[in-house]
Amino acid sequence: MPIIASNFKTNHTRASTKEYLEKVNNYLKTSQNSNSVFVFPTSTSIDNFSLEKNLEIGIQNAYFTNNGSFTGEIGLEQLEEFNIKTILIGHSERRHILGETGEEIAKKFEFYKNLGFTIIYCIGEPLEVKEAGLDKTLEYIFEQFIGIDTNYEKLILAYEPVWAIGTGKTATNSDIENIHKAIKEKIQKPLLYGGSVKVENVKDICKIANVDGALIGTASWKAEDFIKILENTK
Ligand code: G3P
Repeated sequence: MPIIASNFKTNHTRASTKEYLEKVNNYLKTSQNSNSVFVFPTSTSIDNFSLEKNLEIGIQNAYFTNNGSFTGEIGLEQLEEFNIKTILIGHSERRHILGETGEEIAKKFEFYKNLGFTIIYCIGEPLEVKEAGLDKTLEYIFEQFIGIDTNYEKLILAYEPVWAIGTGKTATNSDIENIHKAIKEKIQKPLLYGGSVKVENVKDICKIANVDGALIGTASWKAEDFIKILENTK
């Protein structure tokens, strides 16, 4: 069954997150949809939600610390309170907008790996690298695995071409097929695609060889749309 994940990014409130999760949870309860579903709300909206076993809340980001003096960050102590055991690491917006370095990303990966977290690890190239061709693209992507234990048992990968994120420009099926094939030849882990996935294209994308699901932003921010995406991939 495909893994389908919604990344809220910097959207929703506590109240709207609760309402969203109630709708998605009710759908999963009544639809016999056995997809593996993750929702990544903002850190201020996480709570102890009572959810179906195939719906899991993850955190979009956390620092590699139990607690301490890292102003503005959250650490393990804040996650344990809500039994959060899944984390997104390496998202391109944290790399390219928020300036997170490969070294910091590797330290986060190691810290949460040692705690047994499920890690959705994001990789993907910016437009100028894509335009330099497939070899350069793959070289860039595999450099993003430096310092990352790709044998980790609870690792899920997400290929998200930076130029397709939030742009409405989805990678072509052959783009996705070529990159996913190349990644899977080296790293045999579940591999999601992300980058302008929507209700209309998710079914076809999930049928592409070596695509094990989707990590979705914009098109998943309304519960009704995310439910349609789940329905289209069950
Ligand atoms: O993490 C998923 C996200 O980066 C994709 O965003 O809006 O293109 O679906 P979007």
